Amino acid sequence: MHDLTAAFSVPVRFPVRFTRHAWAPDNTVVADCMPSAPGRPARALVVVDAGLVTADPGIVDRIQAWFRLREQGPHLAAQPLVLAGGEAAKADWSTVDRVMDQAAELQLCRHSYVLALGGGALLDAVGLAAALVHRGLRLVRMPSTTLGQCDAGLGVKNAINAYQQKNFLGTFQPPWAVIDDLALLDLQDDRSWRAGISEAVKVGVIKDADFVRRIAALAPAIASRDPAAMAEVVHRCAALHLDHISTGGDPFETGSSRPLDFGHWTAHRLEILTRHRLLHGEAVAIGVAIDAAYAVRCGWLSEEDGLMIAKALTGVGLPLWDASLDLRDADGRRSILAGLEQFRAHLGGHLTLAMPDGLGRRQDIHAVDPVRLDQALSLVGRWRRPHAAGVPSH
Ligand SMILES: NC(=O)c1ccc[n+]([C@@H]2O[C@H](COP(=O)([O-])OP(=O)(O)OC[C@H]3O[C@@H](n4cnc5c(N)ncnc54)[C@H](O)[C@@H]3O)[C@@H](O)[C@H]2O)c1
Ligand SMILES: [Zn+2]
Repeated sequence: MHDLTAAFSVPVRFPVRFTRHAWAPDNTVVADCMPSAPGRPARALVVVDAGLVTADPGIVDRIQAWFRLREQGPHLAAQPLVLAGGEAAKADWSTVDRVMDQAAELQLCRHSYVLALGGGALLDAVGLAAALVHRGLRLVRMPSTTLGQCDAGLGVKNAINAYQQKNFLGTFQPPWAVIDDLALLDLQDDRSWRAGISEAVKVGVIKDADFVRRIAALAPAIASRDPAAMAEVVHRCAALHLDHISTGGDPFETGSSRPLDFGHWTAHRLEILTRHRLLHGEAVAIGVAIDAAYAVRCGWLSEEDGLMIAKALTGVGLPLWDASLDLRDADGRRSILAGLEQFRAHLGGHLTLAMPDGLGRRQDIHAVDPVRLDQALSLVGRWRRPHAAGVPSH
């Protein structure tokens, strides 16, 4: 009897729509993304981030009013479910449980939609629930933060934190559709407004030098909350992330390399070390600065380009430093270095870190030299001092 092989590929295609005021009565973007079968209006469970509801108390009423106007569907399966957002949303199973409970009670089927409206953390937890119920409901993500629209809402991953590690439990599950409603960004506080810009700088450093220059030029406008400058950065950042996922050859990260996680080995560690006092985007800003400085110290990036990266970050008001970088373990080793082993374990295989190879190009490296890292941290210290006035102290 000879051995058999199963081999197939499944094409993945999902729209990323840009709009403003998606819940205005005549806006049809949400309906376009949730088609119904003829004569059978699709059913939708809507989950809304409580932080967004605090910033915009009328939003739940507007969502309900919008659905009431859709005679042909989609229809609300129940009142929108308002759940706490922020990192607490993915700190345990509670958000996932709430969504799964509702899905069971409402008898959602694999043709039903779960629309997740909120920050990246809530989207990650709701996405995990949607992936688990019946092995996958149709997930429509509507990210409401800069970071969500630049990055977290676009990809094919979901996760919750567990065992003291970021994103320890999750699945790869492409969304049905993504809707970036740019008007939602205006509701954020300043920290959240700028935090996601670090993901734009990150992707520019490894994929698009001109984008980094553009962000540096737009930084004052972004810092003063210019919506047009923000929209330009969000759109380009989304395009670069989607290009990587679509054409990078490894959308489900089966290899050891994860270029979109440039700067993240430190970022994830800093989030844990600071118990999420730093927002993900703020931790990424620090991680990008450190890895850019490391690249300068290794001769992979010019000092001038390193400084421009730092200026793009500090120009919008992002931090380059946190006191937790100075923490040391009992053996005198820098506490952040444990992030390397966690990063390797999360990816599997060899430690593989994306690093710039000239601005806008990428290479993979497999070790971090602690002496060079110390030099890099000193360089970041130099970069942050001229801008210290604009850097919030955390
Ligand atoms: N799945 C992925 O591919 C991916 C990629 C990048 C990041 N992430 C994850 O995303 C998370 C970070 O997401 P985030 O930066 O959006 O932060 P967040 O989800 O923690 O939200 C920050 C705060 O903003 C509130 N909020 C949301 N929208 C708002 C609005 N429009 N106005 C006012 N307040 C609002 C939330 O309630 C929360 O308190 C991290 O957990 C990170 O790991 C996931
Ligand atoms: Zn990130």
